[in-house]
Amino acid sequence: MAKILVTGGAGYIGSHTCVELLEAGHDVVVLDNLSNSSEESLKRVQALTGKSLKFIQGDIRQQQDLDQAFASHQIDAVIHFAGLKAVGESQQIPLTYFDNNIAGSIQLVQAMERANVFNLVFSSSATVYGEKNPSPYQEDMTLGMPNNNYGYTKLVIEQMLEKTSIADDRWSIALLRYFNPVGAHKSGCIGEDPLGIPNNLMPYLTQVAVGQREKLSIFGNDYPTQDGTCERDFIHVVDLAEAHVLAVENRLTNTGCRAWNIGTGQPISVLQIKNTFEKVNDIVVRAEFSDRRAGDLPSFYANNARAVAELGWTPKHNLEDMLADSWNWQKQNPTGYKA
Ligand code: NAD
Ligand code: UD1
Repeated sequence: MAKILVTGGAGYIGSHTCVELLEAGHDVVVLDNLSNSSEESLKRVQALTGKSLKFIQGDIRQQQDLDQAFASHQIDAVIHFAGLKAVGESQQIPLTYFDNNIAGSIQLVQAMERANVFNLVFSSSATVYGEKNPSPYQEDMTLGMPNNNYGYTKLVIEQMLEKTSIADDRWSIALLRYFNPVGAHKSGCIGEDPLGIPNNLMPYLTQVAVGQREKLSIFGNDYPTQDGTCERDFIHVVDLAEAHVLAVENRLTNTGCRAWNIGTGQPISVLQIKNTFEKVNDIVVRAEFSDRRAGDLPSFYANNARAVAELGWTPKHNLEDMLADSWNWQKQNPTGYKA
């Protein structure tokens, strides 16, 4: 059993990963500045699992916060979720994204070196494949240039981590390239709680379903796909969380830098999401077709064979589970973690 520092552990994917880590018997220390989350998620993680974790309110850009975390705990490995993730915002305030995501990751890696901790799992994204690679994406494809500043930070951090591990073979780094995480813990106690108007499809759709937003705009119905709407590879957040447990355990006994796609490999269209959500949850979601959103790719999905073979990971949740669990969370928590 290992002691894992989870940066950004109070957030959507981080909180689900904390549950899986605790249930697998690991000790968890979360470092989060709560810029896009609340401590309530961690209270619920502990209530759900009946196990406790340590929480440090701190910032990955602050050397002192990091050094103190490593000095106070015998950390074996780090899972690094902390980062800003709103694509549109990253176009308006790029320097904030470069500072938080890139400079923050550099601070973290330097603090790990000082503390002699060399096992790291990093939250990357399918966006690093760029716009030209055909789907299904495979890990050994030449990466492309993401078309937004958020994606650019993921590419830079991946490359920085790879070069660091080449220069120093004590490092063991996992780059997990997520496709489109959705769903929530089946209890409905933890889930995605975006600040303000959601950018992503699933939280927007569930907020329409719960009556907080008037209707869903489906961005474009003239794409070269089966039904004209975009296709994505939706992955249940609990399956994604399990991939982190397997990846961190893999890193404790391996060295080098290795990328794994974490998706189901199934392209699902936006219209299919809306229609299946209505069917599974027996609810009508008001929706209309609108213009394409700038920067959207028509279709992308994973080849996940490497994660299956090397991590022993298999996604266990189907589309119906993803949509039922997203709704269960939203229904039980119409205003998220806010009382
Ligand atoms: P989230 O916003 O819910 O979680 C990120 C957490 O990091 C938040 O709790 C936030 O408060 C914290 N944080 C941000 N900056 C910090 C800093 N400087 N110091 C300390 N804490 C900080 O997002 P999420 O959906 O859980 O995503 C987690 C990670 O996965 C992010 O790096 C994101 O870019 C990446 N990712 C997410 C998706 C997705 O669709 N959700 C897809 C691909 C990759
Ligand atoms: C986006 C980012 C990606 C990032 C991910 C998670 C882009 C190009 N990509 O992925 O880099 O890792 O978010 O933060 O921005 N949709 C609607 N109506 C809505 C919202 C979305 O029709 O109200 C559609 C979109 O056009 C898209 C699909 O739903 O086709 C999924 O969108 P979204 O959830 O934002 O994820 P991505 O765009 O795939």
